[in-house]
Amino acid sequence: MANLHILDHPLIQSKLTYLRSVETANHNFRLLLEELTAFMVYEITRDYPLREVEVITPLERTVGKILDVPVVLVPILRAGTGMLHGVLDLIPTAKVGHIGIYRDPRTLQPVEYYAKLPPELPEAQVILVDPMLATGGSAVAAVDIIRRRGGKKVQFLCLVAAPEGVETLFRAHPEVPIYTAALDRHLNEHGYILPGLGDAGDRIFGT
Ligand code: PRP
Ligand code: URA
Repeated sequence: MANLHILDHPLIQSKLTYLRSVETANHNFRLLLEELTAFMVYEITRDYPLREVEVITPLERTVGKILDVPVVLVPILRAGTGMLHGVLDLIPTAKVGHIGIYRDPRTLQPVEYYAKLPPELPEAQVILVDPMLATGGSAVAAVDIIRRRGGKKVQFLCLVAAPEGVETLFRAHPEVPIYTAALDRHLNEHGYILPGLGDAGDRIFGT
């Protein structure tokens, strides 16, 4: 699929393996998730625009470059917040919006319960983050909300994607690039990704 990007940097892949392990405890899971997110952000920001600015070094005046686009980071609650600081460590000036969605465990349909997005949204490069892209329902609902509030340029960043979710998100929003560390096999009968890493929210928060 044209809009799917699998980030296969060796450090990303090796950290993902530790994240998947059932033996990784909550506190290590949180740390690894933040580190992994930072590596992924490094990759997905490669083409961000720059503008020239004057800078005075201790020796002379010169011209440097800085980011020329406001960045809005939007984690999907809850599990997306585990990726928040991984992005903010690299882009501390990013504004942060929040979208609350959970998946009904019976129907697997997304249930929206919260949305607060910063006013910069229409001009911004939006990075929507959630560790898991399973059926794709939550990601599609989140992009719908961002679009309704005027957001235009959206990148979706996750750790593990199922082919079902990639297809659903692509069909609903073909212009949204999907970045993931892994494209896994498929979903089980409860909508969990196989092999996956389990319930991301539970593993982050110990619930
Ligand atoms: C998880 C995950 C995604 C969603 C993915 O959240 O963090 O948001 O499931 O599933 P989907 O692609 O089938 O929609 P969950 O619904 O468990 O909520 P939580 O983060 O509050 O635990
Ligand atoms: N949500 C998760 O947290 N994990 C999955 O495997 C699927 C949805």
